[in-house]
Amino acid sequence: MKDRTYGIDTLAIHAGEAPDPSSGALVPPVHLASTYHLGTAEKGAAIFAGEQEGFVYSRWGNPTVALLERRVAALEGAEAALATGSGMAAIATAVLNVVAAGDHVVSATAIYPSSYHLFSVELKALGIDTTFVDATDAGAVRTAIRPNTRLVYVETPGNPILALSDLPAIATIAREAGVVSICDNTFATPVNQRPLALGIDAVVHSATKYLCGHGDAVGGVIAGSKAFITRAANEPLRYFGGVLSPFNAYLILRGIQTLPLRMARHNASALVIAEHLARHPAVSWVSYPGLASHPQHELARRQMSGFGGMVCFDLAGGVEAGRRLMNTVRLCSLAVSLGDTRTLITHPASTTHSVVSREERLTQGVTDGLVRLSVGLEDVNDLIADLERGLE
Ligand SMILES: Cc1ncc(COP(=O)(O)O)c(C=O)c1O
Repeated sequence: MKDRTYGIDTLAIHAGEAPDPSSGALVPPVHLASTYHLGTAEKGAAIFAGEQEGFVYSRWGNPTVALLERRVAALEGAEAALATGSGMAAIATAVLNVVAAGDHVVSATAIYPSSYHLFSVELKALGIDTTFVDATDAGAVRTAIRPNTRLVYVETPGNPILALSDLPAIATIAREAGVVSICDNTFATPVNQRPLALGIDAVVHSATKYLCGHGDAVGGVIAGSKAFITRAANEPLRYFGGVLSPFNAYLILRGIQTLPLRMARHNASALVIAEHLARHPAVSWVSYPGLASHPQHELARRQMSGFGGMVCFDLAGGVEAGRRLMNTVRLCSLAVSLGDTRTLITHPASTTHSVVSREERLTQGVTDGLVRLSVGLEDVNDLIADLERGLE
């Protein structure tokens, strides 16, 4: 199947598939084997030498995981992809595929907090320095590049307040400096944004979120050139060992089949809710890339084909109002993570960030009344009614 000739709805269901030769089963088998018969000594030697294709050991490759990789590669328009045990494993593997001790990274400040920790603590301990910049300003990325910079890292739309980075501008800056660019595409998904087509070198995903879509598997994926992915597979993934379980690959593949349909609904409902909240007297501001009031709405229209299911807003009543909303909603689940069929809501100041000082949390953009909503697939009127109860 020549994947690139099909639309994304078709790719989500068929890309990379090959009917199981032993049974003809249309649903891909979950290959649980950790090791594989090498056939003959000669064939084993040829596989080890890379002269012949074949599975050897499931940390090096697994047929169910390989199908997921082919599918995500097709969706992202990449030459190849590599699945990992979590989104953080995808980010760590992709980054360690590029940088080593003595190298320098330029990263957006507004990224998923664990990614920020990876750069600021874990990689720093390995002798890799990171300069964090406001990547909404592509010029700030250019200014931060040093002679030993090897990587520019962005997440767009980014945590916590859905700020955007101009992907074509950042890709050009990185290319001109001879630096690799990586984008976390978790929030947008390949349905709403294709960073590789905009010039970015590699994409990382927490497949735990929209790709899986049902909140029942943790996983990650990297997509990029064949050379980038082959090195990532043969070096950091193989030796740090953060591989994906075949069963989770199966669940994520099952979820991906409905990704375009789900994203259409996430996009539509999030816009309705964002517009509703923007008119609400209890809400001081709303951040949603699809609203004309978003500071980078024009950029969102240029580089995204849909604005996603994440909405951030700030309650005028601060911490107390946030606590009241969290304790009142019934349909929205008070839970971290995102991209699920069900709506998830968090108020960082009273939950995840309650152990962080107010000053520190404010520097991370987490205001007293900040609420993050991952808009699910429920009836949008039911969701609005649920939020209304807590906003009164
Ligand atoms: C944007 C983003 N990237 C990466 C991750 C990490 O993914 P995982 O939890 O699958 O390791 C998350 C998790 O919330 C995320 O929101």
